[in-house]
Amino acid sequence: MSGKTVHDLQEMKARGERIVMVTAYDYPSARCAQEAGVDVILVGDSLGNVVLGYETTIPVRLEDMLRHVSAVTRAEGPAHVVCDMPFMTYQVSAEEALRNAARLVQEGGAQSVKLEGGEAFAPTVRRIVEAGIPVMAHIGLTPQSVHRLGGYRVQGRSAEAARRLLEDALALQDAGAYSLVLEAVPWQLAAEITRRLRIPTIGIGAGAGCDGQVLVFHDLVGYSFGTPAKFVRRYADVRQVVTEALRRFGEDVRRGAYPGDAERYSMKDEEWRRLQAEIGGEGDGA
Ligand code: KIV
Repeated sequence: MSGKTVHDLQEMKARGERIVMVTAYDYPSARCAQEAGVDVILVGDSLGNVVLGYETTIPVRLEDMLRHVSAVTRAEGPAHVVCDMPFMTYQVSAEEALRNAARLVQEGGAQSVKLEGGEAFAPTVRRIVEAGIPVMAHIGLTPQSVHRLGGYRVQGRSAEAARRLLEDALALQDAGAYSLVLEAVPWQLAAEITRRLRIPTIGIGAGAGCDGQVLVFHDLVGYSFGTPAKFVRRYADVRQVVTEALRRFGEDVRRGAYPGDAERYSMKDEEWRRLQAEIGGEGDGA
């Protein structure tokens, strides 16, 4: 085990060092994240939207996460790897949640798991943590509850909703969560929650007052489709680079410019003549 531990991440908060988190879903993206020196790789269930082409994260299954977290953890490096628990793998009972969390750690190699939900999930968090698996919690906009929330909207705008989020955050910390994702929350409220917690907060659409920031890999590198959320900053245009590379490949194949002489295997003339005699061929092998 080489990645940062949950204690390393908590010490970063104590030292006032910001935590860098990014999602990854496969070996090459995880290798890039490791080489770039990020602190935490999240194998997010956003896998459903950005890789599997679903509209929401709801269809993502435990088996999907297991396959992808295994690929990510084969890319070793300094980052902590946390894996999302997908919809309905932790909501039914704490026991079932523990069994599923254990699979992500035991079979998938994750160092911790993340689950969405507030105070109502505190007993589940406690059960998983007591069994030895660190839990990152996630409140605010929780995409698995998109149908109840009525869409992907900013959360915590009213006094009641803000108080609820604060209570959720404290309850999850008390239950043993080692960190908390705050998604789509006004920056003032996110900063206040961050100030009141011992554990690090990781923001996504929650302003700069959180202890760390996370973005979805494909949004960050410009390899996603659709209109990006307000908080997304694109650091590259990979979609354009990939599409252009594929277009040029197609052009080269169609005009016979690929493969060239340096891109083919060959054998010595005499070897080929001997082989040709044996197989009864007549062509010139060009
Ligand atoms: O699944 C995911 O990518 C997430 C992040 C948005 C925090 O949960």
